[in-house]
Amino acid sequence: MVLVQNCMPPSRENWEFMVWIWQFFPLITIAQWIPAVNRIYQMGKTSSDSRFNIPGRIAWITMEIPGPLSLIYIMLTVPSSIGLRGLPWENKVMGAFYVLHYINRAIISPLIAPSISPIAPHIWLFAAVFQLSNGISIGGWLGGYGNTTAADWQNHEANYKAGGRMELGMMIFFLGFLANIFHDDELREIRRAAMRNQARREAEKSEDERPKTSKGADKIYMVPRNGLFEYILYPHYLCEWIEWTGYWIMAGLGCVPARNFVINEIATMLPRAVQGKQWYVQRFGEEKIAGRKAVIPGVL
Ligand SMILES: NC(=O)c1ccc[n+]([C@@H]2O[C@H](COP(=O)([O-])OP(=O)(O)OC[C@H]3O[C@@H](n4cnc5c(N)ncnc54)[C@H](OP(=O)(O)O)[C@@H]3O)[C@@H](O)[C@H]2O)c1
Repeated sequence: MVLVQNCMPPSRENWEFMVWIWQFFPLITIAQWIPAVNRIYQMGKTSSDSRFNIPGRIAWITMEIPGPLSLIYIMLTVPSSIGLRGLPWENKVMGAFYVLHYINRAIISPLIAPSISPIAPHIWLFAAVFQLSNGISIGGWLGGYGNTTAADWQNHEANYKAGGRMELGMMIFFLGFLANIFHDDELREIRRAAMRNQARREAEKSEDERPKTSKGADKIYMVPRNGLFEYILYPHYLCEWIEWTGYWIMAGLGCVPARNFVINEIATMLPRAVQGKQWYVQRFGEEKIAGRKAVIPGVL
């Protein structure tokens, strides 16, 4: 099934052009370091009150899902379009890992979060384009424009480095994946605890004193303490970078789409984390944040 001739699924030439362009994404993110530009980054802690905002849960689901959907579609359609009878198991495992990550990020996380701030439409669009570009980039590589045989995967070397690379990458991927989930959940726990306290206080009040509507957990922020939060304020970001570095190792360091993903994520998330640390200092004071870096323990 062809959605758009030569674009979806992309022809090899279009895919190669897209992957080439995608390498320059970090240049756009330089603008994120400019404070005035950062002010229009309206999501999460820096979201604004606007009637055009998209509710947090809906925004996260719809802006993240184009990534895995485009990858699945391309992996299902490209092989037959270029005459491949099948894909090596490594391609399928890497496709499955990508989808696994987004089942958590695009479906489970938004649904189980006690609350998520609304997101401005332009940020939603930016994220959706990121996802689509990345899904096409990695999906094309896995779907037949990258490695297509067992020999490609062995890199024509029968040594221990080639043999263990996939396994090492898998271990790093899962370490980052699980640690990202753990730290994301530490943040959710702050709001769950706040909701429990709120419910307990309301239960202690008499019927007349109880508010008619509950405030919920919207915009409740505290300084997280567990796990790597003791050293940095954005360990969930760091763990996500570790996860996708593992993915890049699985693909082989020469895999440009996997490399682009790691570099592009760091390029857009690093300024967010550094500015996020400034937000924590302004909100809670130097003293409470003292000793913690933004995202790399002891460094930044
Ligand atoms: N942002 C990106 O550019 C980006 C890109 C790729 C992947 N990701 C991944 O997506 C996940 C979420 O990223 P994010 O940028 O939304 O992270 P975040 O700003 O730290 O927010 C994560 C969630 O925790 C809540 N939260 C944040 N700090 C809190 C605190 N101090 N106390 C209580 N609740 C707090 C937020 O609520 P509010 O929404 O109400 O602030 C939000 O629901 C992470 O695992 C990250 O690695 C993010």
